[in-house]
Amino acid sequence: MQLLTPAHWREYELIDSGNFEKLERFGAYITARPEPQAIWDKGLPDTEWKRLAQAVFVKEKNSTEKGQWQLTKDMPEKWWMSYQHDGLRLQLKCSLTSFKHVGVFPEQAANWDFIYEKLKPLPQPTALNLFAYTGAASVAARQAGADVTHVDSIKPVVTWARENMEASGNDNIRWMVEDAFKYVQREVRRGKKYNCLILDPPAYGRGPAGEKWILEEQLNDLLKSCAQLLDEQHFVFVLNLYSLGFSALMAENIVKSCFPQSTSLTCGELYLPDRSGRRLPLGIFARFSSSG
Ligand SMILES: C[S@@+](CC[C@H](N)C(=O)[O-])C[C@H]1O[C@@H](n2cnc3c(N)ncnc32)[C@H](O)[C@@H]1O
Repeated sequence: MQLLTPAHWREYELIDSGNFEKLERFGAYITARPEPQAIWDKGLPDTEWKRLAQAVFVKEKNSTEKGQWQLTKDMPEKWWMSYQHDGLRLQLKCSLTSFKHVGVFPEQAANWDFIYEKLKPLPQPTALNLFAYTGAASVAARQAGADVTHVDSIKPVVTWARENMEASGNDNIRWMVEDAFKYVQREVRRGKKYNCLILDPPAYGRGPAGEKWILEEQLNDLLKSCAQLLDEQHFVFVLNLYSLGFSALMAENIVKSCFPQSTSLTCGELYLPDRSGRRLPLGIFARFSSSG
């Protein structure tokens, strides 16, 4: 089991965490928002959080995700940040959403590096990114030279991903506003093959026509179908899971049972370190590739 954290961020920092909150710098701006895993005490005094935070997310009563942002006067609703490592050059739009998210999952940079590094040497690779959100991983695969298909069920999120692609100087990603499971089943029927599969399913979700997605009930079947899409010779696979309470051993078992070619499989936890040295856990990952 591995502990994995991105090593090349310049424009992002987890400044502090604690008391169910996290203080982060996204490019030029600092936000404070809820973090269910941060049950320890803050490292910095509340006065310092107040001094630094330009946007504070306040949850609605009886809601775990919904709420409002309280902004200081110089805080924009939208801004950009960049991520650079090796040949990877991403421009990512940040925006304050009503679900405490800002459009970028910074811990995912560790997977963006893996996708870029493993796809780059492959001849004309193809990649499928499922539950693909604002598309940082799609653009990383595109910059590695892949022919990319981006699937997400929410149109505004796909539009946001297109903005990230264009701002990063890329083009020609295939945008699909679709239910991920339905899309995969159709590609299996078509006998389609991909060199790279990227999945980041939420615990619960809905397809554009209301198709229900419940992770623990459907992940096994989805991965069995995905196994029929993965190229036998040149392959890269990345699974990321946020849902609280799942063990990386679960990911290991389910990926090993669905993908016989996963001999180079590595699994573990993704985390971000704060200035006090606490390591904030932010999900589990399972990944493998034909080049180890
Ligand atoms: C946790 S986010 C993915 C984050 C992304 N991988 C990232 O790092 O930027 C989950 C995404 O799944 C999408 N989604 C939820 N249910 C879906 C479904 N049934 N089919 C396709 N996408 C779905 C949501 O719209 C959301 O964008």
